[in-house]
Amino acid sequence: MALLIRNGEIVTVGSRVHADIYVENETITQIGKDLEAPPDAETMDANGKLIFPGFIDPHVHIYLPFMATFAKDTHETGSIAALVGGTTTYIEMCCPNRNDDALAGYQLWKSKADGKSACDYAFHMSVTKFAKETESQLREIVADGTASFKIFLAYKNFFGVDDGEMYQTLELAKRLGVIVTAHCENAELVARLQQKLLAEGKTGPEWHEPSRPESVEAEGTGRFATFLENTGATGYVVHLSCEKALRAALDAKSRGVKIHVESVLPHLLLDKSYAARAGVEGMKHVMSPPLRAKHNQEALWKALSAGSIDTVGTDHCPFDTAQKLLGKDSFLNIPNGIPGIEDRVNLLYTYGVKRGRLDFDRFVDAASTRAAKLFGLFPRKGTIAVGSDADLVVYDTNYRGVVSAKAQHTNNDYNGFEGMPIEGRASVVTVRGKVQVRDGKFIGERGRGQMLKREPTHL
Ligand code: URP
Ligand code: ZN
Ligand code: ZN
Repeated sequence: MALLIRNGEIVTVGSRVHADIYVENETITQIGKDLEAPPDAETMDANGKLIFPGFIDPHVHIYLPFMATFAKDTHETGSIAALVGGTTTYIEMCCPNRNDDALAGYQLWKSKADGKSACDYAFHMSVTKFAKETESQLREIVADGTASFKIFLAYKNFFGVDDGEMYQTLELAKRLGVIVTAHCENAELVARLQQKLLAEGKTGPEWHEPSRPESVEAEGTGRFATFLENTGATGYVVHLSCEKALRAALDAKSRGVKIHVESVLPHLLLDKSYAARAGVEGMKHVMSPPLRAKHNQEALWKALSAGSIDTVGTDHCPFDTAQKLLGKDSFLNIPNGIPGIEDRVNLLYTYGVKRGRLDFDRFVDAASTRAAKLFGLFPRKGTIAVGSDADLVVYDTNYRGVVSAKAQHTNNDYNGFEGMPIEGRASVVTVRGKVQVRDGKFIGERGRGQMLKREPTHL
């Protein structure tokens, strides 16, 4: 089926142009003025609208057994939420824990997505221990098209690796040309500080942040960078939350370390006062790294605008109110995480572009193109060009609304950004040429999504 989108303003990194886009067999085949389409082609007029490349969320959790429970989404609910929000590809963290077999975990994570996602997807493979079988298993996983790893320096005895395991993972990644993403917090310090606070009777969600202060994240980021420096591997710090950690990453970068940085919407827009709200309202805003003091946001936005923060993801990880209440007697038991896959693009557009913090280049780059380049998806994804997949977002900048749990598609009963005004939304979204969202509603084909096979690109 062919598709012709007429008269839109196509926005890619470094270019804004009014033109038509013609799609055949899932791929963009022509971009130009006054294109013709055969009579049976689907056509639409995008006059007055922007057309962005499909947005890419480089950090989501869909299937996640974690903290005595499971994150709430399935690939069906999560992908529909993603698409309604303009995200056409997400990269899920495949997270078997230390006691699981990595290869069996990888197959399990794949089976959860297979035939279920309405948008395309890929995985980062978590390395949560380094045992004698790990190298051969990781080689097999990379050969299967999953060319990025994930390590956790936090979550001691569950997902967390020690320094020796981090070294072995990075050293193998360097040989394979695979990028390693990392959650950077010092696990030992977190465990000690948690016990100290609990012993002092400090049990509420407001104590989650003091149990993993900025210095703990800065240490983790600096240590990861030092290990990258000494192995020559390429790294990517996920959900960097504060100025101190940013400085650690950028200091390393300035000495030539191959380190990239992701921040996520909660840290750009919310602050630690949200976790100090009374009762379960505070618990809803518990994530790791925690929401920080507000002054950090300015540093994050500046670095994002300059491109020294590469990408904006979500770390989408929905737990509902009942699950959050598992931690009513101790912040240690509050499942860490917050949903966001549906709201990322609109919030970044509204509070980035519309508020003058980001130009269009950086917006498209941070929310799509840079992730495609770092994770081996470019130019299939992340741009609008002849030969690229026809993942297109026709964006209505005249739309006005508010974020609301009532209207959301993610499987959760709250939204951490509840009530925030948004000034734009995706009106039409295509996945490989098929319209999946129209007038802001999912009208597409469930299960259309494909797992994206990626080659190592960091050789
Ligand atoms: O609080 C968070 N971030 N939950 C999800 C797991 C992780 O650390 O990414
Ligand atoms: Zn994390
Ligand atoms: Zn995460």
